[in-house]
Amino acid sequence: MADDFAQLVKSQADIVKIIGDSVRLRKAGAQNFTGLCPFHKEKSPSFSVHATKQFFHCFGCGQSGDVFAFVMKMENLSFPEAVRSVAQKCGIALPKREFNSPEEAAQAGQRRQLMDMHEAATIFFQQQLQSPEAARAREYLSNRGVTAETITQFRIGYAPESFNALRDQMRGKFDDAAMRASGLFSAKEQADGGSGQLYDRFRKRITFPIANEQGRIIAFTARALDSDDKSGPKYLNSPETPLYSKGHVLFNLDKAKTSIREIDIALLVEGQMDCISAYMAGVRNVLATSGTALTEMQVRLLGRFTKNVVVNFDPDTAGANAAEKSIDLFIEEGFTIKVATLEDGLDPDRYIRERGVQAYIAAIRSARRHSEYLIDRARQLFPARTPESKVKAVNFLLPHIRRSPSRITRDEFAAEAAQKLDIDSAIMRQELRQAATQRSASIRATAADPVSENEKRLLRALVLPEANPARRLAASALVESPHWLEGLAAESLLESLANSPVEGNPLDAAPDDDGRKILAAALFGLGADTDPTPDDVTEALHGLERRRLERRQRELRTLMAEADRRADAAMLRQLMQEKIDIERSLKSLD
Ligand code: CTP
Ligand code: MN
Repeated sequence: MADDFAQLVKSQADIVKIIGDSVRLRKAGAQNFTGLCPFHKEKSPSFSVHATKQFFHCFGCGQSGDVFAFVMKMENLSFPEAVRSVAQKCGIALPKREFNSPEEAAQAGQRRQLMDMHEAATIFFQQQLQSPEAARAREYLSNRGVTAETITQFRIGYAPESFNALRDQMRGKFDDAAMRASGLFSAKEQADGGSGQLYDRFRKRITFPIANEQGRIIAFTARALDSDDKSGPKYLNSPETPLYSKGHVLFNLDKAKTSIREIDIALLVEGQMDCISAYMAGVRNVLATSGTALTEMQVRLLGRFTKNVVVNFDPDTAGANAAEKSIDLFIEEGFTIKVATLEDGLDPDRYIRERGVQAYIAAIRSARRHSEYLIDRARQLFPARTPESKVKAVNFLLPHIRRSPSRITRDEFAAEAAQKLDIDSAIMRQELRQAATQRSASIRATAADPVSENEKRLLRALVLPEANPARRLAASALVESPHWLEGLAAESLLESLANSPVEGNPLDAAPDDDGRKILAAALFGLGADTDPTPDDVTEALHGLERRRLERRQRELRTLMAEADRRADAAMLRQLMQEKIDIERSLKSLD
C-alpha cells in the first residue's frame, strides 16, 4: 500500500472518533480524553487519547501509538489492513490497485497464486493422510498421542512417497513460474543450467502447514516417519519464498494471538510438536520458533501482542544456548522474560504426554526470572568456588547485564549476581556495578527519582514543531550545554529529543519503553494544555541548574567533612573554592 495513502488517511482520520467507537471516552482536558483501556483489564481509566497530537497511550499497560496502531491491535490487523479499515470508517475511497510496472502486477498475481497453491496443497495432503499408503503415518501419529481433533485443527497431512503426486495435482491450475517459486517442488539440475523438471519436495512425510498471522498457509514443515539416513533430515522445511521467510514467522501465532493478548503473556517453545501438544492440552498462548534461532523480527512480531514471555526450550545445550540468545533479544525489546526448564531431559511434548498437562503448567508457573536463570546457568557452567571460577561466571554474566535497557534492572541483576555468586572481591563487585551503569543511554525513572515538573516542561517544548522558538531555545541549550542534563531522570530522553525534532507520533521518538512512559506522563500531565513559551523554557532550565548545584553542594559537605577527617588541607582548599563558586552561581540564577 502506498505510504502517501496511509498519510492521507491519517491526516483525515480523527483518532478520538475512531477510538470512541470502541472505547467510552471522557474529556479530561483541553486536548485529551480518557477511558478504560481495551487492551488490559482495569477498573479506573488509565487509557488516554491526545486529540491534537493524535495518539493514544495507556498508563496501565503501556500500549501506545497512532490511529493505525490502535486499529491493528484492536482488530488484529496488519498495517495495510488497518489503513484500509480506517479509510473505510472515514469514508475515504480506497485507491484503485495500480501497479507501476507489469512486473509488479505479475508479482501481486503470483503471491495470490502462491497462497492458493498452499491452500490447495494443504487440502491435498490432508486427503492423502486418509489414503491406504498413509497407514503408517496414521499409526505414527496415534502412537505419538496426536488425536483426530488435533489433526483437523492443525490441518496435519501426509505427502506420499511419489515424486509427482502433488506436481500432477497442480499442473494446469497454476503457472510453471509460480510452481517453481512456491518451494513445494525441487527441480532436477540441468547440465546446461536450464530449468529442469519439477518434482515433489515433500515425500513420505507427515506435513504440518505453517500459517501467517491471518491463518493463511504460506509454507510447510514435514517430518520423516523413519529416522534412518535414507529418509533425510527429521524435519524438512519450505525454503524461503516470496510468501515465507523463516525468521519472520512464529508457528501457531494465528491460533494463539487472541489468548496471548487476553492473558498478556506468551509461552515460547522450540518444536512444532511441542507447540501442538501444549495447545491441544489447553495451553492456548503457545508459539514455536521451529527450532531456529529466534530473530529480532519474531520478537517484534510478538511484541504487538504482549511484552511478557516464558521460554521453554529443550533441556539440552542447544536449548540452553537458544534460551540465552533469546533472553538478550527479548530484553532489548523491553520484554519481561522468564525461563522454564523441565526436569529429566524431557521436551514439552513428552513432558505433557508422560506427566500430564497439570504438571506441565506447574513447571511453567515456576519459571525463573531471566536474571535468576542466567545466574544459575553461570554457576552450573563454572561450579568451582575458586576465585578463577567466579571470574569466569562474572564474565559470562556481564554482557547479559549490560543488555537491559533499564538501569534499575541492571542494578538489580548485578546485585543479585554479586550476592548469589558470593563475590567478595572488591574488583569484581566494581565490574558488576560498572556493567550496571554502562548502558549510558538509559533512563533512570524510579519512584525515588521522579521526573520533575521542569523536565516535563522541557519535554513538552521539545515535541513542538521544529521552528517553534521555545523548541529552538530548549534544543540549543541542551545540545550546547549537556551538563544541564546530568543526573536527570529523563536524561537520555531529553537528549534524544533535543538532537532530533519529532515528526508524527511523539511517543515514537522515545528511545525505549521507560522513555515512552515519561513522555506520555509529560504530555498528558498538569499544565500540558498550553504549549510552553521561551520564558517557560528558560525558567525550567534555571530550575534544573539550581537543583544540580544544590545537589553538588550537599556532596561537597560530605567530601569536606571527609577531607577534614583525613587532614587533607589541599583537598579541603579545593573543595572550599568549589563551594564558593557554586554559591555565586546560585545567586546569579535568582
Ligand atoms: N527442526 C528442523 N529441522 C531438523 C530438525 C529440527 O527444522 N532437521 C526444527 C523443527 O521445527 C523441530 C525443532 O527444530 O520441531 C526442534 O527439533 P527437535 O527437538 O530435534 O525435534 P522435536 O520437536 O522434538 O521433534 P519430534 O518430537 O517430532 O522428534
Ligand atoms: Mn520432541
